[in-house]
Amino acid sequence: MNPVKVGLLGLGTVGGGTVRVLKRNAAEIARRAGRGIEVVHAAARDTSRAHPEDIVGMRITQDPFEVVNDPEVEVVVELMGGYSPARELVLKAIENGKHVVTANKALIATHGNEIFAAAQRKGVTVAFEAAVGGGIPVIKAIREGLAGNTIQWLAGIINGTGNFILTEMRDKGRDFADVLAEAQRLGYAEADPTFDVEGIDAAHKLTILASIAFGIPLQFERVYTEGITKITREDVAYAGELGYRIKHLGIARRASGGIELRVHPTLIPQRRLIANVDGVMNAVLVYGDAVGPTLYYGAGAGAEPTGSAVVADLVDVVRALTSDPENRVPHLAFQPGSLSDLPILPMAEVQTAFYLRLRVADRPGVLAEITRILGSREISIEAILQKETDDASGEATIIILTHGVREGNMMDAIADIEALTTVKAPVVRIRLENLK
Ligand code: NDP
Ligand code: HSE
Repeated sequence: MNPVKVGLLGLGTVGGGTVRVLKRNAAEIARRAGRGIEVVHAAARDTSRAHPEDIVGMRITQDPFEVVNDPEVEVVVELMGGYSPARELVLKAIENGKHVVTANKALIATHGNEIFAAAQRKGVTVAFEAAVGGGIPVIKAIREGLAGNTIQWLAGIINGTGNFILTEMRDKGRDFADVLAEAQRLGYAEADPTFDVEGIDAAHKLTILASIAFGIPLQFERVYTEGITKITREDVAYAGELGYRIKHLGIARRASGGIELRVHPTLIPQRRLIANVDGVMNAVLVYGDAVGPTLYYGAGAGAEPTGSAVVADLVDVVRALTSDPENRVPHLAFQPGSLSDLPILPMAEVQTAFYLRLRVADRPGVLAEITRILGSREISIEAILQKETDDASGEATIIILTHGVREGNMMDAIADIEALTTVKAPVVRIRLENLK
């Protein structure tokens, strides 16, 4: 049988990794897919970035529309990134009856509902395994492997750059800016690295995970998002003293009134496997009612790990080329007509525990005032740690860990605590999850 002809948009980090994996493992891939897979036409603005050996045998253009309009191309692989022209290119490829593979989580999280509807109408597939967790086949695991479960919650370290920065800062005392520059050199970071450090990339990925876990439409705009830029060495050290690690987590949870969707720094007990996922590695913990907890771990970014996921999607698409479109695995795991309208909960309604760090005047009665305020908001304390007083200022640091609480109650309590004259600085609050 003739090889399947692929058009590639983007020859950067992931484009290069994909081409190298396809070439090196061509024979194994053909044995799995039943046909060879060959990139015949590729687009990039600066083609000098591509390794000459990688592009042997391809027609190269600077205009990606030439690729999506090429009648020889059967599958388009979008590895350019960004919203536009990626959206227009993917929609054009679909209109032209081509299957699409993409690693572009920003595109899927924000325009996925439109893209999947167009693909459904045209009877083509849009595959996006590489969009979440780099090389970890977590989309396939949730969409297919856990199809017998009602998913209760999932929590993941889903940004490699952020985890790399936090690990290097904690273990080697390196500067934030210095580690971010290294992540960029290694090809881990997004074109705009604020997406990595402000949690936007993780929110894109959480949007996708929540849709396939709960069968809800993609709702990126409803994700609560905090990045890693405000985490201090001080909090990392205090968390460590109390037996916790601070990780940047994406959390999606089925709660009584709807779905929690949130991305933020989180204390997790050091003994949990996921607390020990370091560097560029990612991990997603998924709790299904039948299977219990399952954990998916691997490289969250980088050329060949991400190429591995892109190629796996290509193999799936090639296998599905001859199957009836109505009988393929649905894009968002659930049949398009069966998506649920469960509401996404406002942050005030989310249930979570907290780590609080307070700077207070070291005077009798201060702690009693604080605990009275917490008690009045139905917040129960799990642990309190008072650090030695700073002689010069006469101020002390108090660390409080709470049990689970309605977030709105905690925000009200913090406002009351900050209004006390004995509290000398804004209260630092980091959410805490036991992930049991
Ligand atoms: P790069 O910036 O390394 O590569 C992007 C490629 O697309 C470059 O070849 C670029 O050309 C080309 N390109 C961009 N815009 C255009 C355009 N308008 N016309 C023609 N060519 C264009 O990005 P990555 O490979 O890192 O990322 C690609 C996608 O994969 C993104 O969606 C990213 O989020 C996703 N991803 C990345 C991972 C990673 O580890 N890097 C992991 C998982 C997903 P030029 O260089 O000339 O600008
Ligand atoms: N910038 C992303 C990350 C790439 O660091 O996780 C992988 O999606």
